[in-house]
Amino acid sequence: MRIDIITCLPRLLESPFNDSILKRAQAKGLVTVAVHDLRAYATNKHRTTDDYAFGGGAGMVMMIEPIDRCIESLKAQRTYDEVIYMSPDGELLTQSMANELSLKGNLIMLCGHYKGVDERVREHLVTREVSIGDYVLSGGELAAAVLSDAIIRLLPGVLSDETSALTDSFQDGLVAPPVYTRPAEYRGWKVPEVLLSGHQQNIEQWKLEKAIERTKSRRPGLFPQENS
Ligand code: ADE
Repeated sequence: MRIDIITCLPRLLESPFNDSILKRAQAKGLVTVAVHDLRAYATNKHRTTDDYAFGGGAGMVMMIEPIDRCIESLKAQRTYDEVIYMSPDGELLTQSMANELSLKGNLIMLCGHYKGVDERVREHLVTREVSIGDYVLSGGELAAAVLSDAIIRLLPGVLSDETSALTDSFQDGLVAPPVYTRPAEYRGWKVPEVLLSGHQQNIEQWKLEKAIERTKSRRPGLFPQENS
């Protein structure tokens, strides 16, 4: 898989991709993440990528031309499954969206800033818009990092224990059950007996019950029968 991220603040994306799982995934050749500085595609003398909004109003708008030039140069090299614009008014990111995108080959993620991008970018160049939640960030970079992380960790071979992504919260529509490690007792706070019993069937049953209990109390909206 390949993810190309277009941004006017490339340094914001340095650390998320240069540590831990995302770094290892790239080192193993399971994913290529390329960050493109939009300023390199600017056509004017000062290499600006934004301008005042037609009709007035506060805030700068990202210009279409540098974005188009950048996307064109990427598309000349390979075909892309999606050109995703990170935006608070996009489709809400869910685990099922991450699952779906993890099956794609090449993705472009465009990070917005200021008052957003010229609407013609959204009309003609973008195929999908994604929001990571109902709040406004300063720009799309952190959102693109979140979306990339949610996708990359699902790629086969990225996580050392291949089953662990399958047991994540949300993969079965439930949040994850509680987990414990040593010591079995700390300050009188005990690990549930069943987990120490060695009885695998009872343990699995307990985990399922806890996952259901937690989903109902914390995220009732995930239960379809309780949404109607
Ligand atoms: N850009 C600004 N806020 C955002 C959000 N919530 N999701 C995606 N991109 C954004």
